[in-house]
Amino acid sequence: MKDLSLHIIDIFQNSVSAKATKIELVIIENTERDELRMQFKDNGIGMNTEMVNNVTNAFYTTRTTRKVGLGIPLLKRNAELTGGDFSITSELGVGTEINVRFKHSHIDRQPFGDLAGAIVLTATSYPKTRFVYKHQKDGMEYIFDTDEINEVLDGISIQSTDVVLMLKELIDSNLEEIRVKK
Ligand SMILES: Nc1ncnc2c1ncn2[C@@H]1O[C@H](COP(=O)(O)OP(=O)(O)OP(=O)(O)O)[C@@H](O)[C@H]1O
Ligand SMILES: [Mg+2]
Repeated sequence: MKDLSLHIIDIFQNSVSAKATKIELVIIENTERDELRMQFKDNGIGMNTEMVNNVTNAFYTTRTTRKVGLGIPLLKRNAELTGGDFSITSELGVGTEINVRFKHSHIDRQPFGDLAGAIVLTATSYPKTRFVYKHQKDGMEYIFDTDEINEVLDGISIQSTDVVLMLKELIDSNLEEIRVKK
């Protein structure tokens, strides 16, 4: 996977498949500590301990067996390639949390790519799911919350073309303001 935004779409998709009604992503960039963290949280169906252990191992065991998902193992591997780490915790009926850390300046650290596009695509494809996306960069912060957006829209569909385009620009310009590099 080329960009972090593609991983983000993939992890969001897992939460949607798990029937989450609330999906949260917090990205924290701390250039002084040379860290990039992503924390995903959902309130979906969750996984038991055995399933959690299997998802992170799939990458190494799928080659000769049937197709197993690669979304989580790839994200884990890409974080570890930079000297970072990955953890996942989950509880049946409660939800799932993923924490990933990358070394910010590492040559193998993937660029964000189209972050705004990834957020808007997912948030507007599942209008009944609440998406909260928080991005911190060296003490500056931007928060995107579909509950707030829907309040402002006051009945206008979040899926209407004008709104989708407006949201994309809104997020792009706010990320630029807090100096997030694509
Ligand atoms: N947030 C989540 N809540 C509940 N179960 C999850 C969650 N994320 C992943 N899973 C479980 O772990 C499995 C593996 O996830 P992973 O993203 O690695 O692969 P996948 O989604 O099956 O396939 P793909 O390669 O298309 O991503 C999922 O099929 C699902 O059963
Ligand atoms: Mg997946």
